[in-house]
Amino acid sequence: MGGLAPVAGAADRAPQVREMFDTLAPSYDRANRIISMGLDQGWRRQAIAALGPAAQGEVMDLCAGTLDLSVMLCAAGARRVHAVDFAEKMLQAGAHKIPAGRDVQLVTADARALPFEDSAVDGVIAGFGLRNVPEVHRALAECHRVLRPGGRLVVLEFFVPEGLLARLLQGSYNRFVMPAIGGLVSGFGPAYRYLAGSIDAFMTRGEFERTLRAQGFAAASGREMFPPVASLVVAQKAEVSDAS
Ligand SMILES: C[S@@+](CC[C@H](N)C(=O)[O-])C[C@H]1O[C@@H](n2cnc3c(N)ncnc32)[C@H](O)[C@@H]1O
Repeated sequence: MGGLAPVAGAADRAPQVREMFDTLAPSYDRANRIISMGLDQGWRRQAIAALGPAAQGEVMDLCAGTLDLSVMLCAAGARRVHAVDFAEKMLQAGAHKIPAGRDVQLVTADARALPFEDSAVDGVIAGFGLRNVPEVHRALAECHRVLRPGGRLVVLEFFVPEGLLARLLQGSYNRFVMPAIGGLVSGFGPAYRYLAGSIDAFMTRGEFERTLRAQGFAAASGREMFPPVASLVVAQKAEVSDAS
């Protein structure tokens, strides 16, 4: 794996990020469970619930990784799941988890250029992926484009905390605990240092919600999960107005 560019100011770090996730793929699930102390699957379940009725339709799992959210979408009764990620080895590492007979399409693509028609899906869900995407507003514009009018976007993510104490606590965990455990489990300490740094370099939840509105979403609101490290943001694409 090549060296990782610093998060802030990197023009397009996407190729290095893709290579990093391809390398982490075999150990990714195990590291996730340990780093989150088993909380990550509960956060994902809440994200699926936040999709509402869209979870039973045609749904895109964006930055799908090893498909934990795709599997939960199957359990929620999704008619079809498009699992999109640019790291093919992440998708392959999770493929065995898809229940037999379920319609889950694995799509290797960049979140900033989705190979889908306009208004193609009822819902988009993105778990812990968007903070890795350079020029994240382009990915959000793509989410808006591929959603049908009235469709819903749910984002599960680690944002920069607003409060000083939370910033201090999360910062220490990210700087020291995450790279140590992630490094131990995966053998790739620098990758987990990068992932921790990508949280510090991302947005606050408020900034993210404003970015969603700037990309055309009619409503965007979020909440912290418990414990207050991960957050959930739900945004809606406007219904087409009859008056237009
Ligand atoms: C931290 S993992 C999260 C995976 C999964 N959603 C989960 O809940 O565990 C982030 C994923 O985002 C993908 N990713 C990052 N940047 C991307 C981009 N520009 N386009 C598509 N996928 C991207 C990575 O390859 C990786 O699999």
